[in-house]
This record gives sequence, structure tokens and C-alpha cells, in this order.
Amino acid sequence: MTSALPYANGPIHLGHLAGCYLPADIFVRYHRLKGTEVLYICGTDEHGVPITIQAEAEGVSPQEIVDRYYENIKTSFAEMGILFDNFSRTTREIHHRLAQDFFLRLLEKGYMDVREVEQFYCPNCERFLADRYIVGTCPHCQADRARGDVCEQCGRWLEPEVLIDPQCKICGSRPSPRSTTHWFFKLSEFQESLEQWLAEKKDWRPSVLNLCRGWFREGLEDRPITRDQEWGVKVPLPEGEGKVLYVWFDAPIGYISSTVEWAELQGNTDAWRTWWLDHDTQLVHFLAKDNIVFHAIIWPAMLMGYGQYILPGSIPANEFLNLEGRKLSTSENWAVWLPDYLREFEPDPLRYCLTVNAPEGRDSDFSWRDFQVRNNNELADILGNFVNRTVAFVERYYGGKIPEAGALATEDREVLAEIESAPGRIGEAIERFEFKRALRELMKLAERGNKYFNDQEPWRTINDDPGLCAATIVTCLRLVSAISFLGEPFLPFTTHKIRCILGLEERRDEVHWDDAVWETLRPGHRIGKLEILFRKIDDETIQRQVAKLGKKEDKEIVAPTPEAKEELGIEDFSKLDLRVAEVKTAERVPGTDKLITLQIEMGEERRQIVAGIGAEYEADELIGKKIVVVANLRKVKIRGVESHGMLLAASHQSHISLVVLDRDIETGAGVS
Ligand code: MF3
Ligand code: ZN
Repeated sequence: MTSALPYANGPIHLGHLAGCYLPADIFVRYHRLKGTEVLYICGTDEHGVPITIQAEAEGVSPQEIVDRYYENIKTSFAEMGILFDNFSRTTREIHHRLAQDFFLRLLEKGYMDVREVEQFYCPNCERFLADRYIVGTCPHCQADRARGDVCEQCGRWLEPEVLIDPQCKICGSRPSPRSTTHWFFKLSEFQESLEQWLAEKKDWRPSVLNLCRGWFREGLEDRPITRDQEWGVKVPLPEGEGKVLYVWFDAPIGYISSTVEWAELQGNTDAWRTWWLDHDTQLVHFLAKDNIVFHAIIWPAMLMGYGQYILPGSIPANEFLNLEGRKLSTSENWAVWLPDYLREFEPDPLRYCLTVNAPEGRDSDFSWRDFQVRNNNELADILGNFVNRTVAFVERYYGGKIPEAGALATEDREVLAEIESAPGRIGEAIERFEFKRALRELMKLAERGNKYFNDQEPWRTINDDPGLCAATIVTCLRLVSAISFLGEPFLPFTTHKIRCILGLEERRDEVHWDDAVWETLRPGHRIGKLEILFRKIDDETIQRQVAKLGKKEDKEIVAPTPEAKEELGIEDFSKLDLRVAEVKTAERVPGTDKLITLQIEMGEERRQIVAGIGAEYEADELIGKKIVVVANLRKVKIRGVESHGMLLAASHQSHISLVVLDRDIETGAGVS
């Protein structure tokens, strides 16, 4: 199993997770419980223009960018419970070696040749420009600064030649076409074999098959797979000086190189072979729809050309996840970043919410409100509640020990029958990549449990009919234990907690998916302490998340740590009239997201100041605060609003903290 290698140019966001990491992880965890031998491979994609653009935007080297985000991404996945067997990087030597070997072999077998092409060149930067490095006016919608590969405003695919008034993205000069040479992969020669191969993939998602059919209809064209650039896998030929492999040529080879690396780490260098050469192995590529053509057409053609490796067995591509009804946009910061999420919440509620709203078959939406409702009303009130009341009952009426069940009633048998068929039902949905449906089946068990508990009224039968009560509770415990295994692919952190409560965790590795439901507890077994499984999330927390969306960390206001300034005498410092003031009212300046107008009181005097703290503070939370103001600054107008004075605040990167007083003191008091 593989998940698409994420570019190491930024943190992971919810769209990534829902697209191809979470579904793969569910699938992998399920298969591990099923006893299937699985290997889950991934790593970061560290070459290509997305990396160099990010590096240039930050004024650092590409290496610095990929080093930073490799760690960042790896940590996020680990914290989210995405359990790779190996998480490599395409900048590793082993990868470069394999990618170059791929290139040479395809060349040797005649599947590549060198051709001369015209390409945009920036005379000022003295380099050829990748499509994304060229900006200009979109010929379709007139948006300015459309990219040479796509217009983000109207979504149309572009070629740099069609841009009106093209400019070099780095320096703004006008690029002009110049001729260069590139190696071309003869994709056209593979059309027939690919069509035949895909014709047998009847159970693949229609979106994948349709997209491929479209490409076949147009006719596959040979593609340049080298670039005039520094950053990347070098073309392993003397005449390839100054050229690297196109990132989409090298990246998928990362699946193999990551497996080889895994084998080396195992101390068994040949262990990768079973996974890539053995025709009984099922290769499953998880990815989102923008990656389909690369995995279903170009990559299989590369594999066919190379000869020896197996071809993809399934490509369960997902559609896109929107956010609050709008398309995700990292440049607009219309995204939820995993490190931010994980700072405030547990992983399982997100795993749950993204699976319930999985973009399977069509685009779907994530909203914070839905997240709150699902956490509170489904996870806490249904699943958490059922586990909680069952365990609490055992605690309270049986001293924490599993009772001996009496004769089973019809109701008990019905519930047991449902438990018995659950592994089959959930497993079947997972095997078809229908994770949404699989999770619904799991939740039905908890719903069923609550209903059964209510109907059987054990709190009553404990007195009237203790045998029946014990049968009810033992049946409920069976349900809880079934959920603690069958829920693991979806909610691994929660099911771990449940198994710990039940005292089943030590058995975890021996339990097989199909038998999980019979894994139960002997009478007299002492169960562990109750633990809260899901905390409710309040409105305020949700509002804070929504407020963060679309707020850009404006690069201009991101002040670097200041350099030490020139030395002053006290007479210079005493020129500043610093005073204590209290904020009386605060209002956002309309049409801005950073400016807030404050009416302040300083002793007898009232005045107005405008402060650029709105990205970090809400207007309301400022009211009543005692702050420090530079009182003798000349009046100015900021966005047309008068400001008389300036408040003191500390800032680090985009983070702001107001200077407030640690004891109460009259307003107007001097500060020195
Ligand atoms: N980095 C690519 C993206 O984020 C995906 C690469 S998948 C691979 O779109 F297979 F090519 F590695
Ligand atoms: Zn330039």
C-alpha cells in the first residue's frame, strides 16, 4: 500500500489527510487485523518546482525547506496515527540511484530519445523557467498573475505561450522562448498495452477509468521528462549537464526506493523484492484525483517499459475535500493545518469526521460546526456513552468484576447475532474502499448497544431478575469488546483506550479480525478504570477555529527578531511619554482584518488609537484591559481613521502579545 508522497513544501492539511492518508491507514490497519501481510510505504516528495518556489519565497535553500517540512510532516502523520512501515524522502541517495537507473534503463530499451524544444527563458535570471515560474494575464478570465500552468481564478489549464504579457515570477522580466534539449519518454508507444491492461480493471472507481478513457481518446503523447534546473535528480549522462529529471518522473519511483530503504533498515536487503517483483502482491496506490493520470497512465507505462516490476492493482482515488463550502486554498490560507489542529484536539474526532465525510465518489465538505456536532452527538453521546454506561454498571453493581451470564433471552441472542456478522459487514465495505459505509456499520453497533441497554433496563432487572441483568451486561460487554477491535482502523486511539479499560490490550496482537467479536472476558475478571473517551467541544472553541480561516500570515508584518539597536542615554528614553491607559471600547476598522480602533482612557483624557493587532485579538477581549501607550506621538491617520498614540506589544513572527500591567494602577500613571 502506498499513499501519494506529499511535497515537502508545507505542513499537511485536512485535504491531504482525507484524500489519501486516512483511507490508506484504515485499509492497512484492517488488513493487519485480517492477518494479511501488508507493507505501507510513503515519504516526502522533495524535488520539483513547488519546493524551489517555496524556497525562493522564504529566501532560503531548497534543502532547508525540505529538511524542515520532512520533520514537520512526519510528526503530524505520527500524531494522527498514520502508521507507515517506512517514511522516506526523495532526496536520499538510494532514491537518486534508483531514479537514475530507471532513466538509463528506459533509454537503453529505446523508450526515450532527445528532442529539441523551445522554452521560456529569463534573460535576467539566466535560466529556463518552468511553467509555474511564468505569470501573466489569463486569456480566458483576464485574471492577472495567472500561472503558466493553470489559472487559479478560472481553473483553466494554460500553457505559458498563451499568457498575455508574460513575466518571470522571480524578477518580473519578460521571458522569451529559447531552444533547449530534453529527453522524452515515448508514452505514445504504450497506449495499446495500457488500454488492454486497464480494460480488466472493471472494479476500479469510475472516476479513474473515465479519466483514463479521456486520455486514450485524445491519444497519448510523448512527454519531456527532464528539466533545465539545479534542484532534483541529475540526469546521469555527460550531455545531461545542468538538467534534472522531471519531478513526476522521479517521485513515483520513491515508492520503490522507500521499500528498498525499509528492507535495508530491516537488515534484509532483499526483502523489498517480494513486494515489487512477486506477481501475487497487490499494489494499491491511494491518492487524490489530481494525481490520477500520473499513477494510472504514466507510472504504469514507466513500469511496463522498465519490465520486471508489478503494476498497480488498485488506485482508489478520492475526490477533493472542501472547507466550509469553499475550495481549499493554501495561498489564501483557506485550510486547516494538522499541526494547528493537533495542538487543540485529539486525533480520533478528526479521523472520524473525515471518514464520515470522505470525498469518495464526489467532493465533500468539512465544516467546524459539523465537526463539533459529530464529536458531541455521535462520538461522545453514542459511542462514548455506550462504553461508559456499560463499564460504569459493572463498576457499580458488580464491583468491577465481570458477572456470570444467566440464560440468554431472545433479545440477547439478537444482539449477539448482529455482533457475529459485524466483521463481515464492515470488512466487506473496507475491502471495496467504502470507508464511509464501513464506519457507519461500526457506529450502528454502538447505537444498537444504547437501544438494547435502554430496552433491557438492567438498573431494574438487577433487583427483579439478576440472571437476566447479568446476561444483558455480558452482552453489552461483548459489544464493547467487538467495537474495541473492529473500530481500530477508524479510531485507533479510542479503541486502544477501550481495550485498556477492558483489560484486553495484551491480547491485541493475537486477535484476528474475524474472531475479534468472540474475544471476551471471563466471569470474575476485574476490569480497569473508566476513562473519558471523548470530550465535548464548546461553541467558543469552534468559533475560534472558524475565525482563523482565510487569515493570512502577512509576510510584511512578520517581523524578524530585531537586531540590537544603537545605545541611548536616559535623556533619549525619557523623551517618550509612556502611560497607563484602559481600553473602553474596541471596534474593528471595516474592511481590514488587522486594524482595531480603540477608545482609551488616560487619567482625565480620552482618545482614540488604531492598533494593528486584529489578526491575533478579537475586539471584545480588549475591553477593560490596562495597557501601555506612547502618549506623545503625533496624530496620524491610518486607513482614514485618526490615531493618537500607540500601544506597546511584543511580537515574534506573526505572534503578538500586548504589554499589560501585572498590578492594578490608575490610568494616566507614567511608565518608565
Ligand atoms: N507530490 C505529489 C503531490 O502532492 C504527489 C506525488 S505522488 C508520487 O501532488 F507517487 F509521485 F510520488
Ligand atoms: Zn527572472
